[in-house]
Amino acid sequence: MKNGPLFFLGLFFALTLSWAVLALGTHAQLGDLQPHYDDLEGKAFPQRAPGIASRGQLVYQDLGCMSCHTQQVRRPSYGADEARGWGSRQSVTRDYVHQKRPLIGQSRLGPDLANFGIRAEAAGTTKTDLLVNLYNGMNGMPAYRFLFEEREIVGQPSSNALQGVAAAGSELVPTERAKTLAAYLLSLKQTYEYPEARPYAPDETQEGAH
Ligand code: HEC
Repeated sequence: MKNGPLFFLGLFFALTLSWAVLALGTHAQLGDLQPHYDDLEGKAFPQRAPGIASRGQLVYQDLGCMSCHTQQVRRPSYGADEARGWGSRQSVTRDYVHQKRPLIGQSRLGPDLANFGIRAEAAGTTKTDLLVNLYNGMNGMPAYRFLFEEREIVGQPSSNALQGVAAAGSELVPTERAKTLAAYLLSLKQTYEYPEARPYAPDETQEGAH
């Protein structure tokens, strides 16, 4: 090759430029996105997750739950997420402003969890039900038994123990990681109607009026 160094320099600049546009350009567009202040409610949305839920998010991240679950609802023209009951609106960037590492996930072997807290509330799923599901696993989902401590009952049983799961004479106690993970899952809600959460729909009744 005649101009090897020049070729590599050119390649280097081309790649640096595309990286800069991708990373810095996105940062310039979205880096100072603020929560939305609602005058009527006197609060800013999204609200910060309680401490126990943000610790649970670290457990979720640590266990790689996002390899099977997304947390991003697509708008109707992009997929059937709303029809499946995964959310009543599309997810928007603002939903994630308080999260240091948004865990939007990459593939969906299991259902999207962006609004799991709402589904659980509607179905009457309690924290205990959820813990039992994590212990036993679900259809197509592994069991996370190491998040629980199975031990013999000596003296008084623990008040934290899950009822009716362990064999007679022993008890199943969720660890701190299991409890924070369950609190995190139950806190997952993307309900606030941000101005940008509804895609623009042209008003068809006005067509041809001018
Ligand atoms: C191998 C893929 C896989 C992994 C890893 C996985 N899940 Fe799942 N998950 C599934 C599948 C599949 C279902 C659907 C089960 C069903 O419908 O019975 C599911 C269901 C769920 C549900 C119930 C959702 C609903 O709407 O009813 C929750 C909550 C959940 N998973 C949480 C987690 C958490 C937390 C982790 C990490 C600790 C995790 N999952 C890891 C595949 C996975």
